[in-house]
Amino acid sequence: MATKTAWGGRFEQELDAGAARFLESVSFDKRLAEEDIAGSLAHADMLASIGVLTEPDVAAIRRGLGAIRAEIRAGTFAWDAAKEDVHMNIESSLTAREGDVGARLHTGRSRNDQVATDMRLWARDACARVGRSLDRLALTLVTRADDEVDTLLPAYTHIQRAQPNRLAHHLMAWVEMFDRDHGRLHDCAMRMNESPLGSGAVCATTFPLDRALTANLLGFARPTRNSVDATADRDFLLELLAALAIASVHLSRIAEELVWWSTMEFGFIEMADAHATGSSMMPQKKNPDVAEVVRGKAGRVIGDLVALLVVLKGLPLGYNRDLQEDKAPVFDAVDTVRDAAEVLADAIGALSFRRDRMRAALGAGYVTATEVADWLAARGVPFRHAHEVAGRLVGRAIAKQCELAQLSLDEFREEHPTFDESIYTALDPETAVERRDIVGGPARKQVRAALADARARLEGRGAALARTVSATP
Ligand code: ARG
Repeated sequence: MATKTAWGGRFEQELDAGAARFLESVSFDKRLAEEDIAGSLAHADMLASIGVLTEPDVAAIRRGLGAIRAEIRAGTFAWDAAKEDVHMNIESSLTAREGDVGARLHTGRSRNDQVATDMRLWARDACARVGRSLDRLALTLVTRADDEVDTLLPAYTHIQRAQPNRLAHHLMAWVEMFDRDHGRLHDCAMRMNESPLGSGAVCATTFPLDRALTANLLGFARPTRNSVDATADRDFLLELLAALAIASVHLSRIAEELVWWSTMEFGFIEMADAHATGSSMMPQKKNPDVAEVVRGKAGRVIGDLVALLVVLKGLPLGYNRDLQEDKAPVFDAVDTVRDAAEVLADAIGALSFRRDRMRAALGAGYVTATEVADWLAARGVPFRHAHEVAGRLVGRAIAKQCELAQLSLDEFREEHPTFDESIYTALDPETAVERRDIVGGPARKQVRAALADARARLEGRGAALARTVSATP
């Protein structure tokens, strides 16, 4: 029996064309096609298991959905905005191909639990995909750090030269941050891993659906516990967006550092030509645009998180159509973070470190002043007093426009009688770094252990250096 309108017997008129254009979501939610089909296949199998569909029905559904999936993958499927969303497009195409079984498939199901299921499946996969890109970036950093254990440079606080460091130890700080980003994505993927199917539009369904079966078929850990919650909340997407926003801030901070380090003033790195750009006016320019755009992209990802927070904040239970606005920010943030991590891994893999410039920066700025204080403190002088003495010695050196190691032993002794020749050894940056031989410190042994540990962790998760992702279209 044909219905009078798309929305069935209740309606006398078709939806206004302007309203239809405004409401449609297929132009963007067609990205959920794979998940939507997987959800329908699981639902069909389950309906057969409880006797709502017959085996021949399920065979027809499998055949129809398989053909639709093949067309979608080939780019030949005829998407129709008049059919509103990905769910209706696929279902009506199934009915057109296989007849009434297509219309039976929606038994005990609503688009509300359907879309909640699709988004959980999509987001779960996105967590894994973004995690792989972040791991590739981290492994790139580990690999570069492996060759820079002996490279010394100043560590900075307040962008002032602070203490000597190993470049490898500095690079490994970023690895820690990306590792936690990976962990956050993994955590939220675990929490979202529940199946909404069977929640219906808001209050489940009268059909005795086997929710554990559909959950199982889709790789979910269990069914959701409350049908209203499962259809109305999108906090699992907020968690994903929050994890992505934090990752994008890390990407932005490392990019910021690459920009500074590329300047003539720092000169610590040189971007490879293939990952830098020139100026249309100034022939001498070589700009770190990749890093700058990575830094800029963090703005949109933070915006994506804020956008969904604001969509959700005023919504009463249960489902409201506002929830359709979850998709654009989620798709955008996932694509953006992934692209940024990949392009940054490429650029970092190819740049060159200017070890001479880093080393030269250690020769000025009194980065070993802490060693002077520690030298005295280790010999019984209370640290606060030792700090005072070291400060006075820095003052002397500034006045003489020389380095601490250029002060004479007499000058050291004028500030404190305990000083002997061994203070000069302590002032050597290599010594200063090596003496910081505790867990989390920059001594060679500690850095080597951290590198091996990170590499094992990353390779254990299947990380590889080769790019497997092309830029998102
Ligand atoms: N496009 C909608 C969404 O993304 C589909 C879900 C249900 N639609 C509805 N009118 N109940 O949320």
